[in-house]
Amino acid sequence: MILPIVTSPRTRRALPLIDLAPVADDLLRDALAGLTRPARTLPCKYFYDDLGSDLFDQICALPEYYPTRTELAISRQHAAEMATACGPHVRLLELGSGSSTKTRVLLDHLRSPAAYLPVDIARDFLRASADAIAAEYPDLPVQPVCADFTGPLAHHLANHHTLSARRTIVYFPGSTIGNFPDPDAVALLTNIAALLGDHGGLLIGVDLRKDIAILERAYNDSQGVTAAFNKNLLVRLNRELAADFAVEQFTHHAHYDREFGRIEMQLISRRRQAVHIAGQRIEFREGEPIVTEHSHKYTLAGFAALAAAAGLHVRQVWTDREQLFSVQYLTPA
Ligand code: AVI
Repeated sequence: MILPIVTSPRTRRALPLIDLAPVADDLLRDALAGLTRPARTLPCKYFYDDLGSDLFDQICALPEYYPTRTELAISRQHAAEMATACGPHVRLLELGSGSSTKTRVLLDHLRSPAAYLPVDIARDFLRASADAIAAEYPDLPVQPVCADFTGPLAHHLANHHTLSARRTIVYFPGSTIGNFPDPDAVALLTNIAALLGDHGGLLIGVDLRKDIAILERAYNDSQGVTAAFNKNLLVRLNRELAADFAVEQFTHHAHYDREFGRIEMQLISRRRQAVHIAGQRIEFREGEPIVTEHSHKYTLAGFAALAAAAGLHVRQVWTDREQLFSVQYLTPA
């Protein structure tokens, strides 16, 4: 008897990566620019080295950190409606795809999706997670794109066969939009609108304003994971730039700023001290903060106004019962 050769779906791979060769970050330049200003800052994009990404995954599982589990619950509960809003045969382009956990919920409900394009800057991680999706969804072409999603992607991807001729749905979960100041958020949404063309749609996770105690607990967890995540920035500067931060001499602090509607994370100098980076001496006063992250929380009207400035209209909003978080579907005006 001749047995048919059956290829295991586990061996199925994603398509060869489209490499848009994102420009390498300049940690030294950005760190010195932020730390030599009168109001000290460090860019939050530098949280995500290997340890930082691992700590962020731990944050997402914390009891106090409501966004991840709430967004997942909303997605599970309303996935069928979201899939209907997106329509059939779409190509799904996910920005900052990471491990694509929430995406699987959506993929399970989309009708005959034409392709899935995870976009991420971390090349090796992107390849591995794209292969994992390709193995799990044997009928779905999976096309990873290595790119900085804050840049203008549309013109690079316009002529690629997985992107032409079909309706594009951009998926941007996690309320990552909230980590951008408003003008940058509008610029990013404008780039997204360019990807959508006239007939596409954006499915986006948007964190909502709420009781300040809930917000502040989410960024000051009792196990100190967020504190470790925040301080890891200094560990990274010590390791990668041979800086000499005494990490234990900085305290994690996160508070809600009512005026701007955002959580502000800081590292506060516990004493008067000096730090050296690449021959530069940087002095800190006792109690002086380094601002490391803003995480904006929106009203529904506030987010709609932000999106409108980028030419996008909110068509549908799904929230949880307590209105902690929202997933929103937008289309070009
Ligand atoms: C990735 N981003 C949406 C998270 C947030 O909530 O702003 C990052 C984070 N910072 C501290 N905890 C989580």
